[in-house]
Amino acid sequence: MSILIKNGRIITAADDYVADIFIQEEKITTIGKNLDVKADQVIDAKNKLVFPGGIDPHVHLDMPFMGTYSSDNYETGTRAALFGGTTMVIDFILQTQGKSLHDALKEWKGRSDGNAVGDYSFHMAVTDFNDTTKAEIKDMIEKEGITSFKTFMAYKGALMIDDRQMVGLMNEVKKRGGMVTTHATNGDMIDFLVAKNKSEGKFSPLYHYLSQPEITESEASGRFADMAYHTGVPAYIVHMTCEGALNHIRDAAKRNQKVFVETCIQYLVLDASLYDKGFESAKWVMSPPLREKKDQESLWAGIDQGSVQVVATDHCPFMWEQKKMGEKDFSKIPNGHPAIENRMELLFSHGVNKGRISLNKFVELTSTNAAKIFGMHPRKGCIAVGTDADLVIFDPNEKHMLSAKTHHMNCDYSGYEGWELTGKCKTILLRGKVAVDNNQLLVKKGYGQFIRRNKFS
Ligand code: URP
Ligand code: ZN
Ligand code: ZN
Repeated sequence: MSILIKNGRIITAADDYVADIFIQEEKITTIGKNLDVKADQVIDAKNKLVFPGGIDPHVHLDMPFMGTYSSDNYETGTRAALFGGTTMVIDFILQTQGKSLHDALKEWKGRSDGNAVGDYSFHMAVTDFNDTTKAEIKDMIEKEGITSFKTFMAYKGALMIDDRQMVGLMNEVKKRGGMVTTHATNGDMIDFLVAKNKSEGKFSPLYHYLSQPEITESEASGRFADMAYHTGVPAYIVHMTCEGALNHIRDAAKRNQKVFVETCIQYLVLDASLYDKGFESAKWVMSPPLREKKDQESLWAGIDQGSVQVVATDHCPFMWEQKKMGEKDFSKIPNGHPAIENRMELLFSHGVNKGRISLNKFVELTSTNAAKIFGMHPRKGCIAVGTDADLVIFDPNEKHMLSAKTHHMNCDYSGYEGWELTGKCKTILLRGKVAVDNNQLLVKKGYGQFIRRNKFS
């Protein structure tokens, strides 16, 4: 099977030019002007942008969490991702405290094997670091191709590890060539504030937000950066939301330390005023919570300065019935919101169209940087001869509206209902196959492959 994409404006992290792309089987084999080749299928991309397939390195599919499961599974989640231009996701395996990493991997493979429509990989969340876990790190990296280890500095009793475990894990991961990532918020401070608010009869979603003030995130971000500095492990902070946390990373840079930073699309375009809507605010109950306008400005500035490298989603959807588990108590609302399908189009409209980021920066943030940081580049995250033909053909002028009525995520509401965007993902290729065209899915469940990742270099 061969495909010729003609006359697209090819945008990578570095380049911007008009050319044809010739694809054979899964790979790009030629790029050039007016290619004179015979192809099984020709796609006219005149007046369209061609981006590398999006990579969302922070999603939670079919995840057991807060007494329920996130509502998108591997099939529905990766399918929705494809409609939104994301051809690959990295999901989180959660170790059960008291059990091994291998047990957790087996459980997650049971959910993912044969079910994904788009490509995927795993981060391994270490929730119980001990001698058994320590011995498994090498296997995860070398045998399984899972090179990033997630930690939680919050959610005590289920996911959180203490600083002693963190330093132990960092030492081992550094030795084996991996990376440690973290959910950086101070779990003990948050638990104290949750209990205090509830003891004062404050149970609405607003108190989810008020129980996680900025300091809970900035303190943990600084502490994590210090432990990473001490151990020398490559480090990455997920879903950063605020100025205080980013300033700790800016400080770390002054001692020549590099800590990678991910923010999520919602923290760039939504703010804490949404917590003023009674129980409807449960739609945006996530951790960390949405912040203030000044934090959005810091994150956009951090993107511009290069201190924030990735825009992910932390896609963790729940149906409204599931959110209602916390109708009488905000601390029981399952945390998370749906966004896997909306990330690229939202960032284009609110980043590129508003003049906040260039097209090249858009590609860095949505694809190339994640591919580089997580050991998949150049196979993923770029448009070049020899790379996987994962491509997004994008109409920068098409206007459309986001709505739960039309999205493909398995979630009965949208956090962006009625938002009007300019710029739409039209045709999506994944490993040389047209996966989505004209709002139709053309690949089947099972087409998505697990992608092994390289060590950190
Ligand atoms: O609210 C969130 N973020 N839910 C998913 C779990 C996590 O902390 O990433
Ligand atoms: Zn988190
Ligand atoms: Zn998450």
